Amino acid sequence: MDLIDIIETKKQGGELSKEQIRYFAMAAADENSLDYQLSALLMAIRLKGMTARETAMLSLEMANTGDVLVPNIDGITVDKHSTGGVGDTTSLALVPLVASCGGKVIKMSGRGLGHTGGTIDKLEAIPGMKVEIPEDIFINIVKEIGCCIVGQSKNLVPADKRLYALRDVTATVDSVPLIASSIMSKKLAGGADAIVLDVKFGSGALMKTVDESIELAKAMVDIGIKNGRETVAFITSMQEPLGSHVGNALEVKDAIDLLSGRTKGPLLEVSLILGEQMLILSKLADDENTARQMLLYALSSGRGLDKFKQMIRAQGGDDSVCDDVSLLPKAKLTHVVKANKNGYIHTVDTQRIGEASRMLGAGRRSKDDELDLAAGLIMHRRIGDKVNIGDSICTLYYNPGKDPVSAEEYILSAVNIDSEEVKAPRLVYAKITKRGTHIYED
Ligand code: URA
Repeated sequence: MDLIDIIETKKQGGELSKEQIRYFAMAAADENSLDYQLSALLMAIRLKGMTARETAMLSLEMANTGDVLVPNIDGITVDKHSTGGVGDTTSLALVPLVASCGGKVIKMSGRGLGHTGGTIDKLEAIPGMKVEIPEDIFINIVKEIGCCIVGQSKNLVPADKRLYALRDVTATVDSVPLIASSIMSKKLAGGADAIVLDVKFGSGALMKTVDESIELAKAMVDIGIKNGRETVAFITSMQEPLGSHVGNALEVKDAIDLLSGRTKGPLLEVSLILGEQMLILSKLADDENTARQMLLYALSSGRGLDKFKQMIRAQGGDDSVCDDVSLLPKAKLTHVVKANKNGYIHTVDTQRIGEASRMLGAGRRSKDDELDLAAGLIMHRRIGDKVNIGDSICTLYYNPGKDPVSAEEYILSAVNIDSEEVKAPRLVYAKITKRGTHIYED
């Protein structure tokens, strides 16, 4: 067998055999294989698609090209993954919250790239916090306290690292089977028994429409189920930043505020919906209602925040940030962006908000860029809010050397104000399980 045969099969629209898929995954992880042959196959897959069976096999074969975690933890281990967005700090709050209700949460996370943030960068805003932790210690922390969040190991799905880099330069990123297998191979290698997926759609997300995100979610749920992992996905809105805080230390603060009962609204609501499902899949609650009561009690009793402190201590960090958020990195300068029009906020170009935050130092343009963990912004208004000229829309946080004027221009061009009243968009659009798709109606 060689890659030319496999390219030929896919070019003709054929279904690849298990052996062909294994050969492809192994070739992707083998530095001696040829970029142009892998790229030709990626394009054939992009154009001809893959069946659900092929996509599930590809995810598993890709996962097997690197380290695969076998947690060996009593009970059901659970993971949560978001397809990425702006101001989405649900993982930081949810992981300890679910653990404080008895869950065993194992989570490997990535760094931010482009306009979206990454959980690992956010955690590094906590003084002393370690995110590169050997596998045995990672597992012991989960056994002891119920949760831990670490960076992806260097040898996690090497096939994906190669294919992702090739897709980036061959216009083959926008392929549902390739995105689904890229994400799910890392989830399968992460070792959790159950996976809750938050598939975002909207101006700040990978998928721009509800239909596209449902298609991706269905493919990912199918991959999980076919590989023996209980998997449920929600389609949620990224039509504007989820939480008001955007930036690394600022999002840690938002998570602490949520766990302390100070942050309400969309970030809390989406966290509760995902958390309910994590508890149900962990068999700690029979239904959403019971699970919600458990989560709300963990919040009001302070058990969720205590669990976050435990996790921070176990990972070498300074847990006093939970009682005094002023200990987090703080920017020296602020600038308030004010509305230049009367009316209602109709739409928000969320990607531009993420880009404004990146311009202030909170994000990277390329993989090796240094972050300013204190930089970012806080949005004061959401879609549907009425504003008058001069009202503050957002505060920028930055250090000397950054230019708030360009970031301000980005914010003003991202926030579309019009005279007609509009309703705030819904937060959760659909739930996808092995039994099918449930669309939430108004
Ligand atoms: N995230 C991934 O890990 N892979 C993709 O293909 C897209 C987003």
